[in-house]
Amino acid sequence: MKHNTALLLLLACSFSLYAQKSSDKKIKPRNEFIPELMAKMTIDEKISQLVQYTADGTVTGPKTGINYIEEIKKGNVGSILNATSVKYTRELQELNLKNSRLKIPLLFGYDVIHGYKTIFPITLGEAASWDLKAVELSARVAAEEAAAAGVHWTFAPMVDISRDPRWGRVSEGSGEDTYLGSKMAVARVRGFQGNDLMAANTVLACTKHFAAYGAAEAGRDYNTVDMSERVLRETYLPPFKATVDAGVGTFMTSFNEISGVPATGSKFLLRDVLKGEWGFNGFVVTDYTAINELIPHGFAKDSANAGELALRAGVDMDMVGGIFMKNLKKLLQEGKVTEAQINDACRRVLEAKYDLGLFHDPYRYNNEKREKEVIYKKEHLEAALDVAKKSMVLLKNDNNVLPLRKEQKVAFVGPLVNDEWNIIGSWAASGDRYGYAVSVQEGVNKVVTDKGKVTFDKGVEIVDPRRDMMQAALDNARKADVIVAVMGEFENMSGEAASRTSIDLPGIQKEFLAELKKLNKPIVLVLMNGRPLTLNWENENMDAILEAWFPGTMGGDAIAQTLYGMNVPSGKLPMTFPRNVGQVPIYYNHKNTGRPYLGPTDPEQKYKSRYIDVDNSPLFPFGYGLSYTTFSYSNLKLSSKTVNMNGSIKVSVDVANTGNYDAAEVVQLYIQDNVGSVTRPVKELKGFEKVMLKKGEKKTVEFTITPEDLKFYNIDMQFTAEPGDFEVTVGGNSASGLQDKFVLVK
Ligand code: BGC
Repeated sequence: MKHNTALLLLLACSFSLYAQKSSDKKIKPRNEFIPELMAKMTIDEKISQLVQYTADGTVTGPKTGINYIEEIKKGNVGSILNATSVKYTRELQELNLKNSRLKIPLLFGYDVIHGYKTIFPITLGEAASWDLKAVELSARVAAEEAAAAGVHWTFAPMVDISRDPRWGRVSEGSGEDTYLGSKMAVARVRGFQGNDLMAANTVLACTKHFAAYGAAEAGRDYNTVDMSERVLRETYLPPFKATVDAGVGTFMTSFNEISGVPATGSKFLLRDVLKGEWGFNGFVVTDYTAINELIPHGFAKDSANAGELALRAGVDMDMVGGIFMKNLKKLLQEGKVTEAQINDACRRVLEAKYDLGLFHDPYRYNNEKREKEVIYKKEHLEAALDVAKKSMVLLKNDNNVLPLRKEQKVAFVGPLVNDEWNIIGSWAASGDRYGYAVSVQEGVNKVVTDKGKVTFDKGVEIVDPRRDMMQAALDNARKADVIVAVMGEFENMSGEAASRTSIDLPGIQKEFLAELKKLNKPIVLVLMNGRPLTLNWENENMDAILEAWFPGTMGGDAIAQTLYGMNVPSGKLPMTFPRNVGQVPIYYNHKNTGRPYLGPTDPEQKYKSRYIDVDNSPLFPFGYGLSYTTFSYSNLKLSSKTVNMNGSIKVSVDVANTGNYDAAEVVQLYIQDNVGSVTRPVKELKGFEKVMLKKGEKKTVEFTITPEDLKFYNIDMQFTAEPGDFEVTVGGNSASGLQDKFVLVK
C-alpha cells in the first residue's frame, strides 16, 4: 500500500507539469466564453455539437454506414470515438478546425476501461483488491497514457451493479455490492480526472451505463429490466450518484429498458433524477446507437420520434446513430423540441470541451514526444504489476500446497499457460497482446532459474475438443511434485454481448483436470476468467485454487510471484461464486423471506425457502479470500449500545496475523437492520479496511457508524433511518465474523 501512495504521488506531480502550456490562448472565463460563443452559433452548429460518430479503427458496435470523415468535412460533428494516437487525432482535429466556422474543437472519446496500453486487471479483478488507492492508481495510469495518445475522454467507470454472473459485462464492473461499487467508482473518477481536468494528462470520465443495465433478465445482454423504484434507488443508483458527487464530467445511458421505459428515453432517470435531484452539470451521451434502438424497443415509432424522445428525456449527445443530426432541426421547426433544450445540451458539451482546455489549445493532447515517453513507462508497468498482485484471490489452499518452493519440480499445464492474448482481458483498449503481455510461462521463468524444475504444456485448448496434446502434458505432470493448471475462459467470453448460460470451465478443461487428478499429485488451479464460475467439482478435486481474473499486461509476473510466495494473496471476492447456475441470482445481501432455511440442522426441512437439490449457500461468498497466513479476529467493541439520530458509534476489532507471512487482510463491517417499515437485507456492507499486518502483529481496526449508514427508502419512499435494533458483524468475509448489537433511538 505504501508502494501505491508513492506511485500516486509521482503521478500527481506530473499533473501540474501539463496544466498551463505556453501555446495556450488567453481566453475569457467559462461563464463568459461559452455564452458569447453560443450567441454566434447557428442552430445547425449547435446540433453538430450533439453528434458523435465512430472512426473505423476499433469496432465497438453495429455498423451504420455513416462516413465520419465526410461528416467532419461538413462541420457536422462534435465528437469522435475510437480514434486514437497523436497523429490520427491531430489529422482529424485539423480537418475539423478547417471546416468549423467558429473553430470548435472535436472531443475524442475511447473506451479506456482498465488501461490504455499498459493494461491492468479487468475491472472486476481490480475490485477484488478492495484497495481504493490501487484502483485510483490504475485509472490514473490509464488516463496518463490515453491522454498522451490524443484521447480526451474515457467511457469509464462502468459502475453497473450485477448479481448475475451469466451477464458477460460483470467483468467490466465492480461486482454485486452497492457500497464497494460506489467506493470503486469514485476512486476511478479521481484517477481519470485528477484534480485538474485542464491538465493535459487527465481525461474526462464517463459514468455508465445509466441505469440498472446489470439487472438484465436471465443475464442476457441488452435484455429487459423490471424493478421497483426502491431497489433501483437503493441498490443500483448509489454508485452513479457517488460519481456525480465526485465531479464526474459525463454520463452514458444504458441500452436496457427499466419497467417499460428504455433508459435512453427516460425523463425520470435523466432529467428528474440525474440532472434534477442530483444536480449533475455535465453532459449525457447515449450508448452506441441507443437512440435508434428506441424503435425496436417499441418506444418510438420512427427516427424523428426517437430523437424527440431522447432529447426531451435529457440526452445531450447521440453516439453514432446520426438521429440528432438527421432530425433535430426539423423537430425544432415543428415545435416538438425547444431551442432551450438544444441550447442546454450544446452548452453542456461546450463546457466539457472548455474544462479540458480544448478552446485554449485544441492540440494540447497531441504531443508526439510525450506519447512516446509516457506509453509503457516503467512506472506504469510497475503499477500494473502491483495492482495485479493485489487482485489475486486465493479460493482454496489445502495443506498449504501454495506457495510453491523453487526446489519443487512443477508441471505447468493448461491452455492459458503460455498465453499472451487472453491474459489482458476484454475491453483492453489499445493494449498490445502478443509480444507485450507477460505470460505465466514467462513470469515463472523469471522466478525459477533452474529450468530443470519446470515444464510447460498446454494439454488442451479452451474450447477446442481435440485431445492430441493431452498425453505429452500428462507425461510431464507425472514426473512433477506439483501440477499447476492455468485455465479459464477466452477473454471474449465475457464483456459486451458475451452472456453464457453455463458458467462452468469451458470445453474439455475439466476432463483434462480429471486426468491429471488420476496422477495423485497436488494440483493447483490458476484461473483467468471474467466472471464468477461454477467450480464445485474443481473445489472438491483440486488442492488449491487461485482466482487471477484477467490480470493484464504484467499478469504472468503477478501470477508467478504469487505462486512462489513473493506476493501473498490478499484479494476478496467482489461477487458471489454460486454452486451452480440454478442458484443465480445469488448475492449476500438478500432478504430473509418468511420461511428462511437454517441449513442442514434446520428441524423443518420441507416448507422452507430452499432448493431440494443443492444448499442455499454459495460455493464462495462475497468478500471471501484466503491468504498464505491466517488472521484471527477478537475483541469486537462498540463504543455504545445505543445511538441517536445525530450520534455515531465506534466499532473496533482486533485483527492479528497468526501465521507465517506478512500479509494484508480486508476487514469488513456488515450491518443488519432487524425490522423496518419495509424489509431489509440480512446484511449489508457498510465499511472495510485493508490492513497490512506483519507476522505476529495485531492491530485494532476502527469503523464509525452513523445513522447515515442506516438509511434506506422507507414505506413512504423517504430516505431515512428507522429506530430499532441493528446487528453488526465484523470479519474477513460476508459469511462469518464477530457479532454485536446496538439500538438506534429517536
Ligand atoms: C458499450 C459501451 C461503450 C460504447 C462505445 C457500447 O457498445 O455498451 O460500454 O462505451 O459501446 O464503445
